[in-house]
Amino acid sequence: MNEKEFTPALGYRFLTPVYDLAVGLLTREQLWRTELLEIIDPKPGDRILDVGCGTGSLVAQLSCIEPEAEMVGLDPDPGVLEIARRKAEKSGANVRWENGFLDRKMAQKIGHFSKVVSSLVLHQTAVDEKRSILSAMHSVLAQEGQLYIADYGLQRTRLMRMLFRLTVQLVDGVRDTQPNADGCLPGQIEAAGFLRVKEVRVISTATGSISLYRASME
Ligand SMILES: C[S@@+](CC[C@H](N)C(=O)[O-])C[C@H]1O[C@@H](n2cnc3c(N)ncnc32)[C@H](O)[C@@H]1O
Repeated sequence: MNEKEFTPALGYRFLTPVYDLAVGLLTREQLWRTELLEIIDPKPGDRILDVGCGTGSLVAQLSCIEPEAEMVGLDPDPGVLEIARRKAEKSGANVRWENGFLDRKMAQKIGHFSKVVSSLVLHQTAVDEKRSILSAMHSVLAQEGQLYIADYGLQRTRLMRMLFRLTVQLVDGVRDTQPNADGCLPGQIEAAGFLRVKEVRVISTATGSISLYRASME
């Protein structure tokens, strides 16, 4: 059991079964996930950790693209991991699933990684939690490791700000999500010790714009 609070995939637990459908319909998922997969570019021998893997869409696709890489999907919600397991079985993906938060104990259990990835997680965590997740990601990356994040970032236009308010902020609330919309992520990634932080791409969607970020350890 996890004592710490977390926001479920689609804001409320009862909506988790329709999470994949909602993301598919509302976020231009195929576009941003494909671009994210391309920049992650998994290689044989990579150890890749997906933090807040949810229903496992990203980590399972990474495993199918590069079966010679080792994948770990981590999420605090056992219910969402159940969906992830079932999906991965169907697609033939080989993923080790871990239920929990990326805290010190979990970090010791899962070891070090060449790549850490995360999609649509940080926007729905409190500011302190964003900091703590990024710092934990830094601690589990190998010296030459890379970080890849896809999430709602700076909402640059009135339209994107409005769509973000009417969708994401309706289900996930304003307190945790507004810092992302105000552009907090690059600074927070740097503050966690990452170098060469870059917003590689910004994709407009019906729920606000999703940014792809890359950063490295050296
Ligand atoms: C919107 S879903 C994204 C799921 C998946 N990464 C994707 O791209 O579809 C956010 C996920 O983050 C998880 N989560 C929430 N708080 C978290 C935290 N503090 N640390 C790690 N994961 C968290 C939730 O359980 C949920 O599965």
